[in-house]
Amino acid sequence: MTRILLLGGTTEATMLARLLAEAGMDAIFSYAGRTDKPMAQPLPTRVGGFGGVAGLVDYLKAEGITHAVDATHPFAAQMSTNAVHACAEAGVPLVGLERSGWRAAEGDRWTHVVDMESAVAALPDSGARVFLAIGKQHVADFAGKPANFYLLRLVDPPKDPLPLPDAEAVIARGPFDVAGDRALMERHRITHIVAKNGGGAGARAKLDAARELGLPVILINRPHVPPRRILTSASAVMEWLDHSADLGV
Ligand SMILES: NC(=O)c1ccc[n+]([C@@H]2O[C@H](COP(=O)([O-])OP(=O)(O)OC[C@H]3O[C@@H](n4cnc5c(N)ncnc54)[C@H](OP(=O)(O)O)[C@@H]3O)[C@@H](O)[C@H]2O)c1
Repeated sequence: MTRILLLGGTTEATMLARLLAEAGMDAIFSYAGRTDKPMAQPLPTRVGGFGGVAGLVDYLKAEGITHAVDATHPFAAQMSTNAVHACAEAGVPLVGLERSGWRAAEGDRWTHVVDMESAVAALPDSGARVFLAIGKQHVADFAGKPANFYLLRLVDPPKDPLPLPDAEAVIARGPFDVAGDRALMERHRITHIVAKNGGGAGARAKLDAARELGLPVILINRPHVPPRRILTSASAVMEWLDHSADLGV
């Protein structure tokens, strides 16, 4: 019997959850629990970490998981790395469901950097008005450049004061559109955008808006994840599951 663990958090994970539910497949959806109200899924859902590689190995065995799909965000490198090691140890076939990174088009003014620290270094020391489109986890890193203004976009209202002296948070959940993101940047007189190269249509709006406004973007490269099989669409994962089941994997 096939029993699937779907590590979620992305739009692609939600699409796959719908296909699995429609096909009546036995699957469990897993959220990290980073947002207060995660989107409801049409599958049994669990929330929270497994407890590292060892915890995930135990979970895979206890739940009788036969296949795992890692559809976390491309920047959720710890989870993806743990999944590679735990699935190898437990003998559970794993695929990553991953969208492509964004590529610059004519008129884009992108600077690629390798990590958050380099993104901070790439900003002016003062006077910049920065749209920090990176979520909430690494905001404090930008305290190293306190003389800039920072605009944050967060899913949930911050529970603690923002760790930056001149900052404002807008609370919104994607997908976003170019007109809305352009208006947001104009309203806040943004001069620089900092973003992760997450890929995907809804999150790309800020980059298209930046191009329209002629603004520079500091784009953070994806972190390293150990090699694993990658599929790029929910339907390709469904085919992989069908095929593996036929082979008796
Ligand atoms: N990082 C981003 O830029 C970003 C952006 C948008 C959405 N997200 C989503 O937010 C979630 C967490 O991101 P993160 O940056 O904290 O990842 P991370 O640094 O790779 O993960 C840290 C820890 O959180 C737990 N975890 C992460 N994803 C999980 C999942 N789907 N189910 C159960 N536990 C999970 C694991 O804990 P244990 O070691 O205890 O198992 C993992 O070791 C992911 O689902 C991701 O898709 C992340």
